[in-house]
Amino acid sequence: MRSEAVSPLLHRVLAAVLGTTALATAACGGTSGEPVSPLCEASQAYSVADKVRERAGLDFLARSSGGASFYGDQAGVACSGASNRAACQGALESARGDLNGLSRGKEYIYGYYVATRGDEVIVADAPAELAALVGSADDPNVAAFLALAELPTIECAKVHISARDDETLVTHTRPLGCIDGGTETRTYRVTRSGDVTLESHVRDEPERGCMVEGRLHEGQPRIAYDGDDAGSLLARAAFYEAGSVGSFVRLARELRVHGAPRELVSRAVGAARDEVRHARAMRRLAERRGATVVRPPRAPRAVRPLEDVARENAVEGCVRETHAALVALHQASCARDEAVREAMSGIARDEIGHASLAWAVAEWAEARLDPSARERIASSRAAAIEELRAVEAPDATPEARRALGLPEAAAARALATELAAALEARAFVS
Ligand SMILES: [Fe+2]
Ligand SMILES: [Fe+2]
Repeated sequence: MRSEAVSPLLHRVLAAVLGTTALATAACGGTSGEPVSPLCEASQAYSVADKVRERAGLDFLARSSGGASFYGDQAGVACSGASNRAACQGALESARGDLNGLSRGKEYIYGYYVATRGDEVIVADAPAELAALVGSADDPNVAAFLALAELPTIECAKVHISARDDETLVTHTRPLGCIDGGTETRTYRVTRSGDVTLESHVRDEPERGCMVEGRLHEGQPRIAYDGDDAGSLLARAAFYEAGSVGSFVRLARELRVHGAPRELVSRAVGAARDEVRHARAMRRLAERRGATVVRPPRAPRAVRPLEDVARENAVEGCVRETHAALVALHQASCARDEAVREAMSGIARDEIGHASLAWAVAEWAEARLDPSARERIASSRAAAIEELRAVEAPDATPEARRALGLPEAAAARALATELAAALEARAFVS
């Protein structure tokens, strides 16, 4: 696989898993999410605006950019219940609102909603006004309408709704208009009172970015952090991140000695620096939770034959670090602890770079080996890919899982097996 294909591949796998309806809530740590199914029993697509209109007792509901310039589907008939229809229509024509008023944070929603109920003409040009207009969001249609305010029509295959505690999760997958074949998946949390927050946003194109165990090296000890609380898991991550520093320092030296291009050597040095940053970030987060971080022993320094270097790279880099980058991306999307999410966004971006470096090292190193050595390395990599299929979610308390954005068991398996399939399909194609 070419190294530049790593990032889009990981984003695609994550979007596929988070976008899978059965996993949409479990993937992001929801523990009590119950699928809500009545929305799409009979049709492939339907007007959610019309359902909401009926429920709220409105005659008409549409998104407008001024007067009678309506977007998309209009629900109901304007002024149908008015005692003076002409007066109502005149008022509707002259109704104006803030064109950017429904936008939320960085989410830009153009236009505002207008509605009629009897003689009344209503403009809703702020999220709270729209929520007040359509009533309690314990109705799944209302929750979907508020979350996807720019979409009066819902395509059933692209929207998944689940109830959780006293809120509703709405997950929507759509193609990215400007990128061939790309998709984005957004999950919104909608409270009963209609407040909408964007819980996660995943794009399957290389835009941005764990318990990342990092790149291990020959002889690196595993440690037994038994705790399954967030502090222990962060301490464990800090230990492995620190261990990865030595792995990359050694890789850089070995690449230099074996005559690798300067670009590869300096990427390995850069990766070692990244790992120093990751280790510090994880240590800070662990210590903030009262956990103690153990320092790893030094990595061995001796330079090995190129075949050994390439084998370790194939297993630890091409497979395990690529998987770690995927989990890091999941955490960057799902962690509820804001400091963890922020740290993981940067770490995920770096880890994708390390996975991509591994594939670049493979391209360079394996081309220099004889066919039988190449075959041995291919079978080590294939065995490591096979091992991915047995990956289990790390033991973690529900609180730790949510805080750190770790995948639930089903999502962890789906991530690993989807990745295994994607790597198998592409590993030996350059
Ligand atoms: Fe790392
Ligand atoms: Fe790494």
